[in-house]
Amino acid sequence: MDAPSVKNPGRFITLEGGEGAGKSTQIQVVKDFLLTRGNDVVVTREPGGTSEGQEIRNLLVSGDKDKWSPLSETLLILADRAAHLERVIRPALAEGKYVVCDRFFDSTRAYQGVAGGLGLDVIHNLQQPVLGTTLPDVTLLLDIDPEKGLRRAQERGGELRFESKTLAYHRTLRNAFLDFAAQEPDRIFVIDADRDVEVVSADILAVLDERLDV
Ligand code: TMP
Repeated sequence: MDAPSVKNPGRFITLEGGEGAGKSTQIQVVKDFLLTRGNDVVVTREPGGTSEGQEIRNLLVSGDKDKWSPLSETLLILADRAAHLERVIRPALAEGKYVVCDRFFDSTRAYQGVAGGLGLDVIHNLQQPVLGTTLPDVTLLLDIDPEKGLRRAQERGGELRFESKTLAYHRTLRNAFLDFAAQEPDRIFVIDADRDVEVVSADILAVLDERLDV
């Protein structure tokens, strides 16, 4: 089996998708699976993977849906990401750990770049200095019909700024993620999230089993 990346001594796994796709539940399943196999695991998220980043998250996820433009959103997210990479992700990878991150750069490409209309070139140019060579080895895209996902998210309540953007925004978002997966089939794996939790988990673990030397 080919190693998915030679860039990092550790392994970097990201979970992506629209709202209400069940990422939080599945990330625990991924963590338990990796721990069972005897790996060191760091579970984290964006925005908000550091204490400073948590403050940025609060700014982003609450309030009126139009409070920030997509460009302002991007700059806030990249401030969060820079700190997260410097303080959490790169140190953990350098120690050979598995880093499992709830959202990463594909979210910026999909939410701000495509659904927000900034364009992928602008996102690339802004985030390249932040990312450097630290890219995910495997990305699990939890795909769900936005109407269903938004319903789930509304029922859950809490941070609803992005959830209150239009259905058209969320449909564009879903298609953007699926396009990314089509462009990078060796990195991004589409998981149908509109099924029982156990069935979704089984699919995810099968991908990790195949793609990573866990
Ligand atoms: P969550 O749904 O995983 O809790 O993430 C919080 C929100 O942040 C989510 O609605 C999407 C948004 N977000 C972006 O818009 N761009 C990004 O790059 C990231 C990481 C998150």
